[in-house]
Amino acid sequence: MKEFSEKVTKSILTGIQPSGVITLGNYIGAIKQMVRMQDEFKSYIFIADMHAITVPQDPVKLHENIRSLVALYLACGIDPDKNIIFIQSENEYHANISWLLECNTPFGELSRMTQFKDKSSKNVNFYAGLFTYPVLMAADILAYDVDYVPVGIDQKQHVELARNIAERFNKKYGDTFKIPDVYITKEGTKVTDLVDPTKKMSKSSENPKGTIRLLDDEASIRKKIMGATTDSDCLIKYDPDNKPGISNLINICVALTGKTASEIEQEFTGKNYGEFKKYVADVVTEEILGIQKRYHEIINSDELDKILDENACVTREIAKNKFMLMKHKMGLYK
Ligand code: AMP
Ligand code: TRP
Repeated sequence: MKEFSEKVTKSILTGIQPSGVITLGNYIGAIKQMVRMQDEFKSYIFIADMHAITVPQDPVKLHENIRSLVALYLACGIDPDKNIIFIQSENEYHANISWLLECNTPFGELSRMTQFKDKSSKNVNFYAGLFTYPVLMAADILAYDVDYVPVGIDQKQHVELARNIAERFNKKYGDTFKIPDVYITKEGTKVTDLVDPTKKMSKSSENPKGTIRLLDDEASIRKKIMGATTDSDCLIKYDPDNKPGISNLINICVALTGKTASEIEQEFTGKNYGEFKKYVADVVTEEILGIQKRYHEIINSDELDKILDENACVTREIAKNKFMLMKHKMGLYK
């Protein structure tokens, strides 16, 4: 059985929806933070594919996205020796635990979830899974007795629900779950859109020129950076309020090279925007091409299947034990 390093004692768990495209913003703002955290925590990372199907999905695309996302995370530096990375639907105990929890979750409490209210108000034809989704998320979390759940602020309410569900269950049936703490991840460096640098770079941006995706080819990455909106000062200076375009490019370089903004300003004193953009394009393509090289080595490898099969086994064992304990506590046995 795979073991975490003895040095780390506290554990975390993160679920990522397989939405298909990872942007430079996701990489700099979120994935690099996860890579840093893997040395401090025992970490479970899973592709939340059963959460993804709460809204309609194309099965062929979904399948591709799931595998591709695991490969991309590994290519970005998530180390399979330090993390247990797995696919949620490969572990049937998440859904089993979720059902037992659903039968212990008041309807009213679920009705108060703001994400549900928001999503259901936009489309009247939604499915029951969209409503019960936070209970599945509670099952994901509670199955592993983790200490912390790192999430963005939009998921805080769901983690609090998981805590409530766990506390209520423990009170009713006796000690069963560890109560996890929510760990609000600090906004990492915010990367803004290359066309409209006052907006966050987003997967769902209308203009593809503003967004760099980790699987974009080199020529189009360079083209997008060379075409990035700047200003007419001809001054390479970090000033997000007055010079959002240049400041965004400086931010990207700071995140990828480890240099400070003032080091970059000094390096480019007296140089023009074209020269600076060429440098940014070199920095970004070097990083992304490295990721892509690893991605292509991993995506069709037996190694990827081996990691996923092994981690499905490991996590099934843990979640099964929790499920059996819950069943027993609830009187579901012969
Ligand atoms: P999303 O793509 O909105 O599902 O976000 C996934 C993760 O990536 C979250 O932790 C976001 O905060 C982070 N993220 C998304 N876009 C950016 C961006 N443009 N700059 C920095 N972080 C981002
Ligand atoms: N709901 C989360 C999102 O949409 C993904 C997720 C599913 C998750 N299960 C989780 C996050 C458990 C943290 C812990 O981003």
